[in-house]
Amino acid sequence: MPVFETQVSKQVMSTYLTYLECTACGDRHTPHEVQTVCRSCGKILAARYDLAKAKHEISRKWFRERSPEMWNLMPLLPLENPAHVVSLGELVTPLIRLATLERRLGISRLLIKDESRLPTGSFKARGLAVAVSKAKELGITRVCIPSAGNAAGALAAYAARAGIEAHIFLPEDTPRINISECIASGAQVELVRGTISDAAKAMSERRREHPDWFDVSTMKEPYRLEGKKTMGYELAEQLEWILPDAIVYPAGGGTGLVGMWKAFEEMAELDLIGSKRPRMIAVQSEGCAPIVRAFDQKRRESEFWNNAATIASGLRVPKAFADYLILDILYKSGGHAVAVSDEEIRKAVADVARAEGLYCCPEGAATVVAVEKLLHKNILTAADSVVLWNTAAGTKYAELVERL
Ligand SMILES: Cc1ncc(COP(=O)(O)O)c(C=O)c1O
Ligand SMILES: [Zn+2]
Repeated sequence: MPVFETQVSKQVMSTYLTYLECTACGDRHTPHEVQTVCRSCGKILAARYDLAKAKHEISRKWFRERSPEMWNLMPLLPLENPAHVVSLGELVTPLIRLATLERRLGISRLLIKDESRLPTGSFKARGLAVAVSKAKELGITRVCIPSAGNAAGALAAYAARAGIEAHIFLPEDTPRINISECIASGAQVELVRGTISDAAKAMSERRREHPDWFDVSTMKEPYRLEGKKTMGYELAEQLEWILPDAIVYPAGGGTGLVGMWKAFEEMAELDLIGSKRPRMIAVQSEGCAPIVRAFDQKRRESEFWNNAATIASGLRVPKAFADYLILDILYKSGGHAVAVSDEEIRKAVADVARAEGLYCCPEGAATVVAVEKLLHKNILTAADSVVLWNTAAGTKYAELVERL
């Protein structure tokens, strides 16, 4: 293997990116300028590609003939120039069969996509790798983020690699390792009492003095979503284009869920898959479950969750900016939303590690608890094939282990 520099192979094609479209009002925005949210209505922008044209080149054969790392999806990523890629060696994450848990739970096929292998030990690397690369391409030199922890660690690392200044706002009780990784990478860190929502408020106050800080908050710029979308393509390719019956995903801000769904829609337009979609299932913690509450009440948007508290720090998001997109996907996929308790999560971290040798983060362990609950309620059945998401390494949560 050559020394790692960047994973983009020499023969990459240029992007089919055409415009940015508002997910609420449909207004179009140019991708050639710095964009945040929709200029007309303030909602989320999504990158759109010329898929009718891309279809002539991008086929299952195209996928077979290239190496599968995420940056080789360049034609369907937003960078104009591959020289702007900021990469730390994003590997294809393994899809691991949980045979012991299959027997124990009585389900025919249970797989987990282990995102802990990515740079900075979490799936947040995907979104931030793309967002930082695009920021660099657009000439941005300073970025800021409020984060539950892992997104901050990933931003700090990619910003350091890109030579971009990073300003990070974290709840003061964020897992220690997340704080250390930001400091280690030279980011400016401010700790804030409360949740990610309070961190976001503190950040917006500080931005009054620093209007040049570019905000990479979840869904407040269009490109983290594009990075997260690669989870959908990678999963489909690993499963030889036969998607599972259900995907069980620990949802905080929901970028992964929305990103995967976006990938499936693009893949269908590219004739890579048919019309069957997995049922998308969002898992939250009982201490912060705004999406579950909204789903149970058949709402299209969530309400702010007061006094949010959970050991699954990535799920401590009192109000997701993308709630309307998450809920829409849950409804149209015939999916579900389920809350699990911290005690169940804590037990599942140990159970999964002991049964399968896989030391999940609490958010990942929550998906195992969710499957058990949904089987009991007959929302999932023994015949279903299910893919879970371990979104980060268990080793990033030192405090939790000390108390196990
Ligand atoms: C480990 C982990 N899992 C899940 C989530 C939630 O991710 P998303 O914003 O895609 O819903 C986070 C977010 O911080 C996280 O750190
Ligand atoms: Zn709009």
